Amino acid sequence: MDNILIIGAAGQIGSELTLELRNIYGHNHVFATDIKDAPSDVRESGPFQLLDVMDDKHLIHFIIRNRITQIYHLAAVLSGNAEKLPTAAWQINMNSLMNILEVARLVEDVEKVFWPSSIAVFGPTTPRKMAPQITVMEPVTVYGISKLAGERWCEYYYRRYGVDVRSLRYPGLISYKTEAGGGTTDWAVEIYYDAVRQGSYRCFLKEDTKLPMMFMADAIRATVNLMELQRSEISLHSAYNINGISLSPAEVAEDIKRHIPGFAISYYPDFRQDIADSWPENVDDTMARNRDHWGPQYSLKEITDTMITELTRKLA
Ligand code: SER
Repeated sequence: MDNILIIGAAGQIGSELTLELRNIYGHNHVFATDIKDAPSDVRESGPFQLLDVMDDKHLIHFIIRNRITQIYHLAAVLSGNAEKLPTAAWQINMNSLMNILEVARLVEDVEKVFWPSSIAVFGPTTPRKMAPQITVMEPVTVYGISKLAGERWCEYYYRRYGVDVRSLRYPGLISYKTEAGGGTTDWAVEIYYDAVRQGSYRCFLKEDTKLPMMFMADAIRATVNLMELQRSEISLHSAYNINGISLSPAEVAEDIKRHIPGFAISYYPDFRQDIADSWPENVDDTMARNRDHWGPQYSLKEITDTMITELTRKLA
């Protein structure tokens, strides 16, 4: 019987992944945790508890007491916020991962760990188009450096101790349930909120800045598929590239006009423009596609239709 621990269950990914995993593994077998309160459906559909992943003693007790077999560690300081407090962000992102890897090494019941990596592992010297799985990686952000170092630690724990860590390099994730916070790809969520709320958006990136994006439902499916594979089917214990759809603010704005003809967008690039310019436009995810026939399902039109419909309902 699997018992699953989610760290960061109140966040953008966690608030959706928790519900999906509860459907698969049974509601009482998915232990949602965060350092802040979670949305009511996360709190009410199964166990929820405040837990700080930085507190390694409480963490290990929690894992032993609840006979946890799988850990999803989703807590992190995102790229924009990390630039404001670089050393604090580094400590949080790295120490939390190290705590998880150590627990997975020490507690025999823990069979698998999921930890998200990001397109932020790439940098300005990486090919901008179809960034390969294995390529030059010179990230220029604290967040990117922490994700790249994290990937290397994941692979190290696999090689050295046999810890089965699995990871995906998520693109920017677009979702309506819980807003991201402090990321460079957040514009692709904010634009829909502001379109529905006020019919206009002030964008912090230039109009033609294309970045890799993905609808949350696709990201959840990719994650669950990866975690359901047999250990022998995983050839990479760093992180797999996964590609969704490459989008610029102008393209999304144009598509929103199908629903809100008067929608207006203005551009005031801030410090996040440099971060965006250091990331690729899309990535080559052949390895993930060959592994489990991964492929995104949501087009821009489907993303926009879903976001506008759901946010209109939510913000009404
Ligand atoms: N969405 C993240 C960010 O913008 C990238 O992984 O920080």
